[in-house]
Amino acid sequence: MAVFGCVTVAVTSCSKHDANSPGVEYMPDMYRSPSLETNSFSIVANADGSFDTIETNRLPVAGTIARGFMPFPYANTPEGYELAKLNAHNPLERNDMNTKQGEELYGKYCVHCHGATGEGDGLVGGKLPGPPPPYTAPDKINMTEGELFHIIAYGKGLMGPHSSLLTADERWKLVLYVQHLQHPDGMPAPVADSVAAKEVKVKEKSKKGK
Ligand code: HEC
Repeated sequence: MAVFGCVTVAVTSCSKHDANSPGVEYMPDMYRSPSLETNSFSIVANADGSFDTIETNRLPVAGTIARGFMPFPYANTPEGYELAKLNAHNPLERNDMNTKQGEELYGKYCVHCHGATGEGDGLVGGKLPGPPPPYTAPDKINMTEGELFHIIAYGKGLMGPHSSLLTADERWKLVLYVQHLQHPDGMPAPVADSVAAKEVKVKEKSKKGK
């Protein structure tokens, strides 16, 4: 056995004539992987000396949903706004923990424009050509949760979209906190009938539009 082992070593080591040769490579890609930068285009050399440009970010396969991502099926259009206003509902429970987390997010993403109490008197908000209206203005105080979510996701007027900055969960927590600023003593009972009636109206309208 020992003799056989020595012979094998001798044969493999003698087969290297070129001192600079890397020897046999079974999987060259593992030694010299094409290095692709994330979020960019990379230039890749081909074996024939030509170059290719590779886009490292690829579109997800149609119909797939990223893990942890909840699609919001309402478009950034006036019709999508109306549909979200009536049909989109907060999946989170209205409790102290969620509202408190909403308050923290509000302090990072909203307070500089909307002000600590939602009056629209934040340091930046006051400098805008049209400062944000108070959340408690008569035509704002009863905005629905779906409407609030749509505004946070897509923006409105001078307010930019926040969908790339906040997850859907975070946006719903902000909805809870904005509602808390609007109704510090507790949410009024929902007006179920009128909402249901309007819901039908919007659905009919959107059918006609198609
Ligand atoms: C750059 C300043 C700015 C930031 C940041 C901002 N907003 Fe706004 N927001 C505005 C302005 C201005 C309006 C009024 C838009 C309009 O009606 O033209 C507005 C409108 C709104 C409205 C609807 C009220 C209405 O006028 O219909 C809500 C709700 C709202 N913002 C919530 C938020 C929340 C929550 C955040 C934080 C995630 C936020 N905003 C961040 C400037 C801002």
